[in-house]
Amino acid sequence: MGLAIFRCAARWGLQRNPNPKRKRGPQHPSLTLRVSIETASKPQSALYHGSMRIAVTADLHFGHNRLGDEATQLLRDQLQARPPDLLLLGGDIGTEDHFGACLQFFRDLPCLKALIPGNHDLWVAAEDRRGDSLDLYEKHLPNLCSVHGYHYLDRTPLIVPGANLAVVGSINWYDYSWSLDRLKAEVPDWQWHLDHKAFTRGRHNDARFIRWKSDDIGFTRSVVAVLERQLEQALAQVEHAIVMTHHPAFRGIGFPRPAPAQGLDALLWEALSGNLSMEAVLEKHAERVPFIFSGHTHRDIEATLGGARGWNIGGDYHFKRLLEFDWPTRAVETFIFGDPNKRR
Ligand SMILES: [Fe+2]
Ligand SMILES: [Fe+2]
Repeated sequence: MGLAIFRCAARWGLQRNPNPKRKRGPQHPSLTLRVSIETASKPQSALYHGSMRIAVTADLHFGHNRLGDEATQLLRDQLQARPPDLLLLGGDIGTEDHFGACLQFFRDLPCLKALIPGNHDLWVAAEDRRGDSLDLYEKHLPNLCSVHGYHYLDRTPLIVPGANLAVVGSINWYDYSWSLDRLKAEVPDWQWHLDHKAFTRGRHNDARFIRWKSDDIGFTRSVVAVLERQLEQALAQVEHAIVMTHHPAFRGIGFPRPAPAQGLDALLWEALSGNLSMEAVLEKHAERVPFIFSGHTHRDIEATLGGARGWNIGGDYHFKRLLEFDWPTRAVETFIFGDPNKRR
């Protein structure tokens, strides 16, 4: 079994536990893989005495994919065997009733739980009994969170005075600013493609299932302003704040590309992925924001924004990723559940 894990590590070019003396969590042979550990081991967890262990995942897409759900089960098994102090879910939790089912799935973990929704979590059908996408964002999902014991970060930050730390979060949204100028300059019919969220083949499903009286630019402006206000309020109470967003908080943790985006599909994807104003807000406070976590792209990547270290979590439909870090040591461990190379 150990050999199977090692072979996977070699094939993906990943690193096994570099410190064999470090206590390891439960292993799920061939399906669970610890891929990196950074810096020191942590002191005994003591949430209200200065230190915390925080687990972060995203894009669980609960109930959507058999392999993904098996991976999520393994992720939960590990958390149950070694509970963190705080679990953060970074959006795209589950469409329709799968959202509540996912909250129920982690409900018995003996830790604080907080989340932000993702774009899939706001998808609605015509005449949806839950209301439109804005009703979901402002009422239905927060209500589900209070029923299941989760902190809804888009509404209020989570302040942990004992650790001198806050968690501030937002779905974040897109206003096309990552690539609008280039779309206009380089893509014929750019306006039609943008209006219909239409790629060369197929459309972004947000065009079909995000239904609201708002629009992308107005919603982006609103959620960025709310996050800025919440971040300032949090930093007035504690020394540091972790930020978590669903759509990437800054371009460095957007979809990884070896070269700048080219052509309609890549430029449109950029337009529909993030915004420049969130990055500007975070840049202002980056020295007091140790970590920024995002999701949505299903591609893991790490980058810095001033003094802040940013990660895109990177789990996909068929496998999941989990980051665990210690505060205040800032030691980070990364885990993969399921096989990124096996889609079915
Ligand atoms: Fe997703
Ligand atoms: Fe998403």
